[in-house]
Amino acid sequence: MARDQRAWDEPDLESKSLLRFITCGSVDDGKSTLIGRLLYDSKSLLDDQLDTLAADSKAVGTQGAELDFALLVDGLQAEREQGITIDVAYRFFSTARRKFIVADTPGHEQYTRNMITGASTADVAVILIDARKGVLTQTRRHSRLVSLVGIRRVVLAVNKIDLVGYDQRVFDRIVEDYAAFAGALGFEEIAAIPVSGLRGDNVIAPSADTPWYGGPSLLEHLETVDAGRETADRPFRLPVQWVNRPNADFRGFSGLIASGRVNTGDTVRILPGEGEAVVTRIVTYDGDLKQADAGAAVTLVLDREIDISRGDLIAGAASPALISDRLSADLAWMDEAPLDPARSYWLKLGARTVSARVVAPVSVVDVETGAASAASTLALNAIATVEITLDRPLAFDPYPENRDTGGFILIDRLTNATAAAGMVRGALHKSSDVQWQELDVGVDARAAQKGQRPAVVWFTGLSGAGKSTIANLLERRLHHAGRHTYLLDGDNLRHGLNGDLGFSPADRIENVRRAAEAAKLMADAGLIVLVSLISPFRADRALARGLLPAGQFIEVHVDTPLEVAEQRDVKGLYRRARAGEIKDFTGIDSPYEPPETPEVRIDTTAMSPDAAAEALYLALERRGVLNPAFAAFDYTI
Ligand code: ADX
Repeated sequence: MARDQRAWDEPDLESKSLLRFITCGSVDDGKSTLIGRLLYDSKSLLDDQLDTLAADSKAVGTQGAELDFALLVDGLQAEREQGITIDVAYRFFSTARRKFIVADTPGHEQYTRNMITGASTADVAVILIDARKGVLTQTRRHSRLVSLVGIRRVVLAVNKIDLVGYDQRVFDRIVEDYAAFAGALGFEEIAAIPVSGLRGDNVIAPSADTPWYGGPSLLEHLETVDAGRETADRPFRLPVQWVNRPNADFRGFSGLIASGRVNTGDTVRILPGEGEAVVTRIVTYDGDLKQADAGAAVTLVLDREIDISRGDLIAGAASPALISDRLSADLAWMDEAPLDPARSYWLKLGARTVSARVVAPVSVVDVETGAASAASTLALNAIATVEITLDRPLAFDPYPENRDTGGFILIDRLTNATAAAGMVRGALHKSSDVQWQELDVGVDARAAQKGQRPAVVWFTGLSGAGKSTIANLLERRLHHAGRHTYLLDGDNLRHGLNGDLGFSPADRIENVRRAAEAAKLMADAGLIVLVSLISPFRADRALARGLLPAGQFIEVHVDTPLEVAEQRDVKGLYRRARAGEIKDFTGIDSPYEPPETPEVRIDTTAMSPDAAAEALYLALERRGVLNPAFAAFDYTI
C-alpha cells in the first residue's frame, strides 16, 4: 500500500493486527503530552472509537456479539477477577494499519505493581527519556521490569529533543548509554526515536528539524513493529476453562487456545496427568473447524473418555508442558502485607488454583542494579527469584516461552488479595520423584563410634577477621584430643566445590548454601565440623542453621571492626579493593550483616587467637559435644 494513501483507506478492521504497548516514564518526561498527541493526532483516522471497539470485539473478543471491554481494560486477567483496583489506564485507538491498546501507569517508582500489571500483556514498551536528563535510575528500573515481564521490543523515545536544539550528539549519547546498560536485559530490538511530544516532531510524521534521523516516526514504528505473537508454530496449549456437557451424547473441553495450533486428528496430552487422546472435532461458535490457532475460542471433542476437569491443560503430545510440584519463578510482590514463608498462598495459573508455599530465603533483586541478595521476606513492590512448592503437581511452561501458561498470581488466603504476580522460570524436580532413602547406619551410630556428638561450628566475620586462624587452632586442639573433625574453609572450598562461584550476592548465597549442605552431610557422618566463611548475609546463615537439628549449629561471630581488619590486611585484599581492583569486596562495596544473637562472639581486639580457640574448646565441652560418655550407648544395627 502506498504510504501516503493509507490514511484515507477504509479501515479493514477484520484483518488489522492489534498491538499492545506500555508507556514508561514520568509526567516530567512529558509522557502525557506524548500519549495525548499520539491519540489526538491519530484520531483523525478514526470514525468513532466505539464502532471500532464493536468491530474488534467481534474480531478478537471473547464475548460473542457483545462488546468485549476487556480489550479496553485488560491487565492481569486474574488480577481483575480478584477485584483489585490497580492504577493502570488503558486507552484504545486505531489507525488505518493497526489497532492499539496503550497501557499507561504512574511513573513514580513506588508503582512497580502497576507497571508489572500494565506490562504483563504488552508486546512493546515505549520508554521515555527526557533528552535533557538522559538515562536515569528510573529508566533502568522501568527497563528491568519490562524485561522481567517478557517484553522483548523496546522503543526508546528520546523526548523534548527540541529543548536540546535537535542536537544529534545528545541523542547518540543517550542511545549509547542505554545500549550499554540494556545489553544484559535480553531485548531483541531497541528502536530509538528522537521526538517532541509538545511540538509533534517524529510522533506522527517525520520532523524537518531532525534531518540526521532517517528512521520512522513513533506511530509509523508502532504500526509496523513485529508484535511477536505469531504463535501458530509454537507448542499447542489449551487451558480448559470449562467442561461442556449439555447432554449424555456430547462432551467437549472449552477454552481459548493460548498458543500453537490444533488440527483434527492431532494427538494431545491432558496435563498434569498422562492421558492421551486424538482430537475428533474442533467446535466453534461458527461451526466445526479442521484447524484452529492461538487466540481462538474452541471446544475440543476427543476420541476417548478421559477424566478432564476445569484447570487441566491440553497440550500437543509431541511437546507437552512441564509438570512439577516445585518450580522456580520470578515474583513481584504486590501486597501491603509482606511475604510470610510460613504461610501457604493460593497459586492461580490459567484456570487452575493450587496451594503454594514460597521457600525462604528468597533472592531479592535490586531493580536498579540487578544485584541479588538473600532475604526471608518480601515487601510491597519487591522483585525476587524464589522457589515455590505446591500441594500437587501442576502443568506450566517457562514464562519466556509462554506468558499464558507461565504467568501466575499468588493470592492471600485470608484476605483474598492478590499478593504477587509470578513468572515461571522452570520446573524443579518433583518432590515425589526423589524420595528420601532410609539408611541403616544413622547419625547416632556414627557419632557414638567416634565418642562425640556432631556439631557445626560456623565462623562468620569480615575477610581478615581471623576466622580461619581461630578455626585452624580449634581444629588442632580437637584433633590432639582425639576428636574427629573437618574444617570447611571458604577459600579452600572456592578451589573446588565452589570453584564456579564469584562474589556477587547471588554467588555468595549459593556459596553458603553449598557449604551448609556439605557441613550437614559431615555432621550426619558424626563429625565436628568447623566452617569458616564470611557468609555475610543473615538469611543465609539462618538457612544453614535450619538444615541442622536444634542445638547442633553453633554460630561464632569473629568480631573484628572493619578498620582493624583493613589495617591488618593479611592478604593485601583491602588495599586492592580500595584501589578498585577487586569488586564486591565485603565491607567495602558489599555489605556484611553481623549476627544478632550468635552462640559465641569473639572480640579479636581483646583476645588472642589461642585464647579464642581455647574458649571455644571449653564451650564445646560445656555443650556436651565432647562427652565421651556418649559413646557408651549401645548401638546395635
Ligand atoms: S563468602 O562471602 O561467600 O562467604 P568466602 O568466605 O567464601 O566468602 O570467601 C572469602 C575469601 O575470598 C576472602 O577471605 C578473600 O580471601 C577472598 N576474596 C576474594 N575476593 C573477595 C571479595 N570480593 N569479597 C570477599 N572476599 C574475597
